[in-house]
Amino acid sequence: MAKFIPVETFDLIIFGGTGDLSQRKLLPALYHRYADGQIPAESRIVGVSRTEMSDEEFRAFAFEACEAHTKDPIDKDCWAAFEKLLSFATLDATDPSADWSGLKARLGDDDRPAIFYLAVTPKIYVPICEAIGKAGLADGDARVVLEKPIGTDLESARTINAGVGEVFSEDRIYRIDHYLGKETVQNLLVLRFGNTLFEPLWNRTAIDHIQITVSENVGVGDRAGYYDSAGAVRDMLQNHLLQLLCLIAMEPPNSINADEIRTEKIKVLNALRPMEAKCVGEDTVRAQYGPGTVGGEKVKGYLEELEDGESDTETFVAVRAWVDNWRWARVPFYLRTGKRMRTRHSEIVVQFREAPHAMFGEDQAHSNRLIIRLQPDEGVQLYVQIKEPGPGGLRVQSLPLNLSYAETFQVRYPDAYERLLMDVVRGNLALFMRREEVEEAWEWVDGLLESWSAANTPVFTYSAGLEDGPVEARMLLRQDGRDWWSNGK
Ligand code: BG6
Repeated sequence: MAKFIPVETFDLIIFGGTGDLSQRKLLPALYHRYADGQIPAESRIVGVSRTEMSDEEFRAFAFEACEAHTKDPIDKDCWAAFEKLLSFATLDATDPSADWSGLKARLGDDDRPAIFYLAVTPKIYVPICEAIGKAGLADGDARVVLEKPIGTDLESARTINAGVGEVFSEDRIYRIDHYLGKETVQNLLVLRFGNTLFEPLWNRTAIDHIQITVSENVGVGDRAGYYDSAGAVRDMLQNHLLQLLCLIAMEPPNSINADEIRTEKIKVLNALRPMEAKCVGEDTVRAQYGPGTVGGEKVKGYLEELEDGESDTETFVAVRAWVDNWRWARVPFYLRTGKRMRTRHSEIVVQFREAPHAMFGEDQAHSNRLIIRLQPDEGVQLYVQIKEPGPGGLRVQSLPLNLSYAETFQVRYPDAYERLLMDVVRGNLALFMRREEVEEAWEWVDGLLESWSAANTPVFTYSAGLEDGPVEARMLLRQDGRDWWSNGK
């Protein structure tokens, strides 16, 4: 059984309360935390948006959202208690003459943290924070939660960070990358630093290379407007993949204190070799999905999903990255992410070096591999060399020691937002990004995007539904005599 320690009573104000994130993630996450007894009944959750809606209508809206986005049926009694926490205020927070009294009336003047969750476009993060400040609501222990992407490049990220920083001090700013809230991602820290087995081998002497894959089978759907201006680099690489890279590559922090962890991650981002125009052809692949078949269904190509049918935005990116420090010298990190691939899966592969002497023959090559499966089928596999049973000859196979989370822990898997929201209330910043982290990641990504444009890097096409995306992504590894890991290969 999972143990839940109740958090203190809080007020949560969700700007964009009727938006997609609120419906799909935030309201269901809050319901689950309440149902598990973690959220005190005196807490308040106020949805805010420009939409005209009564408290009652918001409760009905939240019920539908939770029904649609939670696996188990909603418990009617629990809902009846939970919905008492919910209310709604109509407010255009970017309008300087807006009347904040409706929102204020829904908050008390009792002593508890007010958490402002900005589930809105990053373009209005700063004006909303300024308005919160002007309304006198940013004082004391008030906190603000910012969703990724924080800006669209280094400059806009700096502007947002500076503007928000005028109202909230850094220790009251929670920048979300929801990958950090995933159980298996948190487990990376425990796996690396809670065991003595891996750390002595976690460097260039024992590791040949690392692969990080975040593959999605969905297309851009109704987010084409946003996605076309972002692409896979800004939408996924700048944040989720680089965060995973940081957790794999970082030095052991002195403790699990937020700043210790974040400082080590920033050092990794600092050590990332800039992606220059002269190497971008060899070190990256950018591609876009065409029509194809995913899960037995015919799907449109990316361009057909756009209004004007024209774009060179990438829906797939693969990168060979280098962390230029003593630990990782000459160890490539291969990163890839794409939409409309065959399956949805995310995993990290740590490929150890070949044994120095192949006593048991060529089969022994590249025998040890650690696979950290982030989703779905969360788990860890350590491939080791095993003798095939039989009286004659001596044949070896590489087989996994298998730790499946689902089989080991019979608990419901909390969504990343459940963990992250409770951490905001607890004031634990360890799983949130510090200002420099976001800016360092943008600096590297800006370099990559500028190099693409300077080198006129082509956008390849891949048919939707391919396991590995474009064939060029294979070549990225083949040029080094390597292959992407895929189970059963
Ligand atoms: C989001 C991206 O941050 O992450 C989406 O904006 C992407 O484009 C999503 O689909 C993937 O998250 P998950 O948790 O489904 O792997």
